[in-house]
Amino acid sequence: MRSPGPVAATTGGQDGFAMRLIHWQRQHGRHGLPWQDSRDPYRVWLSEIMLQQTQVSTVLDYYPRFLARFPDVRSLAAAPADEVMALWSGLGYYSRARNLHRCAQVVVTDHGGRFPTGASALQQLPGIGASTAAAIAAFCFGERISILDGNVLRVLSRLLAFGEDLARSGAQRQMWQKAQELLPPHPVGDDMVAYTQGLMDLGATVCTRSRPRCSQCPVQDLCLAHAHHQVDRFPVRGRSVRRQSVSWWLLLWRRPAAGGWQLGLMRRPGTGIWAGLHCPPVFESDEALRMAVVDTWRDRLQWLPVVAHSLTHREMRLHPVLLDGDAEALAGGGGLDWRWVKADELAGIGLPAPVRQLLEGL
Ligand code: ADE
Repeated sequence: MRSPGPVAATTGGQDGFAMRLIHWQRQHGRHGLPWQDSRDPYRVWLSEIMLQQTQVSTVLDYYPRFLARFPDVRSLAAAPADEVMALWSGLGYYSRARNLHRCAQVVVTDHGGRFPTGASALQQLPGIGASTAAAIAAFCFGERISILDGNVLRVLSRLLAFGEDLARSGAQRQMWQKAQELLPPHPVGDDMVAYTQGLMDLGATVCTRSRPRCSQCPVQDLCLAHAHHQVDRFPVRGRSVRRQSVSWWLLLWRRPAAGGWQLGLMRRPGTGIWAGLHCPPVFESDEALRMAVVDTWRDRLQWLPVVAHSLTHREMRLHPVLLDGDAEALAGGGGLDWRWVKADELAGIGLPAPVRQLLEGL
């Protein structure tokens, strides 16, 4: 029979992975972040959703503002969607904000305004995936359950020298199993809080994607990838799909109004890029934009510098085209459902971050 190997032999017990991680987190992990001083599931949930795909430094700015306006789940549930989108504006990945709002409404209508207390029930709510449900359950209720986001997949795949392709769902299922096996066997007090935060902190500050700081790692001597000098080989991921690139021409269409400008904006459809946000009319080619403008206005079009913008699956090239023109400048309204929005209303509506920058720079 094959020997169980150093990790399998030493993950449990007082000197095992979990106890070391807990000890390390308490001494060297991140402390004093505003969402860490609360066990209120509303606050923890909000922070976890904001922290998906967004850096801590950015969330530190948005989180208190959002909480000041929506201090509890009932105030968020009762808010107009536009106000939620406006407060989210700039954080990106707007489906998070739409799900956040829906989730608050479900918590109020189906759960009497209280979040369920277990990971499996939390995972039934809109926008809460398995790892986020586990984070809320561990932080707020001390549930013995592991998180497994992208950072933790990296940490554990190195620790275990896990060679399967993580792009495959079967491999991810195996990692869930392994993550559960690594949990503290008998957590007491706030062990699950320190352990969960420890996994996050190790991935964010030590076991980083490039140039990991192995000499500072509390579990270096348990790490199989390190033992084999193969830290760079893990995690194994299949060839990543190249981001598709899209070019959009944006008609920044404005007319003077009392005290400033009005801008011709439409609402994006409910699905696809920037779903549900306000936006200038979008065209898929320079020609399509020109044809939508009545010919007597065409020579007033001004091409502004192209703006590059990255989404998860797309590289966008935005071509802003300015038109100082009144309502009749767009042939038949361009077939678009647009309206004039005053410049001072922009702060209160949901706009994609690059569009907000463009409009505010006019
Ligand atoms: N990323 C996701 N959740 C986090 C948390 N609670 N603290 C710091 N970074 C995180």
